[in-house]
Amino acid sequence: MPIIQPPSAAPGEAAALHWVALLAWYDRARRKLPWRAAPGEAADPYRVWLSEIMLQQTTVAAVIPYFHRITQRFPDLATLAAAPEGEVLALWAGLGYYARARNLHRAAQALAARCDFPRSPEEWLHLPGIGPYTAAAISAIAFGVPVLAVDGNVARVLSRLLAITAPLPGAMAEIATAAEVLARAPTFRARPGDATQALFDLGASVCLKTAPRCGECPLEPGCRGARLGIAHTLPRRAERPPRPARFGAQFWLTDATGHVLLRRRPGRGLLGGMVELPGPPWREGTAWAEDEALALAPTAAPWRKIGSVRHVFTHFSLTLDLYAGTVAAFSPQTLGGFSRPIAALADEALPSVMRKCVLLATKARPA
Ligand code: ADE
Repeated sequence: MPIIQPPSAAPGEAAALHWVALLAWYDRARRKLPWRAAPGEAADPYRVWLSEIMLQQTTVAAVIPYFHRITQRFPDLATLAAAPEGEVLALWAGLGYYARARNLHRAAQALAARCDFPRSPEEWLHLPGIGPYTAAAISAIAFGVPVLAVDGNVARVLSRLLAITAPLPGAMAEIATAAEVLARAPTFRARPGDATQALFDLGASVCLKTAPRCGECPLEPGCRGARLGIAHTLPRRAERPPRPARFGAQFWLTDATGHVLLRRRPGRGLLGGMVELPGPPWREGTAWAEDEALALAPTAAPWRKIGSVRHVFTHFSLTLDLYAGTVAAFSPQTLGGFSRPIAALADEALPSVMRKCVLLATKARPA
């Protein structure tokens, strides 16, 4: 006969215990973040929305200086919506995932046209750049809608709390269901924004990926993962296939006045609309042999290979061979681009991989 164990607490009761402990901890230990309302203050939907877009795939530490710069230049929705896209991209340069900046700008224009911010996740989902997680996070934090947004941090905390041992990404459905159940608790519904941000903070400072600090955790008494001694192994992950390798060659063409040739990438796709050094398309599998690359150089120049740059994108790793060449003069328009003084490149909106190329080219001594 199967032995039926009485549950230690009814699901609703357990959820209430978790939220009470977590919110008490948050009230003591919350991080001060530039988009976060002070205790007792109402959240600013513009800053919450902007921060959630910036925090997609990016750490809090990386976002903070960009958030300050962007909100100084665009203090509200109207200024952001009225700005040229290039200016938004320039302020975003270096933060990565540039489609976010273009979507942010398009969404700003849609929001400015409707004259207010939506409240529900369903409405947020209609805007560019907003998926289910971001929609839920904004609705909860900015408007107190009782939904629990599950990002990587929250998934880690919940998988440990409930000892969910199925591997991600498959386990995401189970984690989402658990989140829905937890979000029904009246203690969560009383403070959805704080409870959500409490989980973010717990994931960032206590329920750490490899070395969780269970001794400091307000959820430890009810944490099944901790009780079983497996918290640090969760969430499990299905093995990822290795990232494919892509290869490219970029050309650093300078003239006698110290200008360098640049071009703009097509508006759509990877690094869409961003500025780059010219070069053949990035391809998978084999590197560009020197003679093959030089046959596609923007102009005939005495080219010299000055090194390689590596950069890891989400879906592939990239190795770029960098060639430098100098001519007395070149016509940027004829070569399909534009030129900038080398000294002015610090102000140019370059993606990180191109910044690495510029760094290598400007460090390399002339032959
Ligand atoms: N990660 C995603 N959204 C966040 C937020 N609002 N605060 C802290 N970390 C986050």
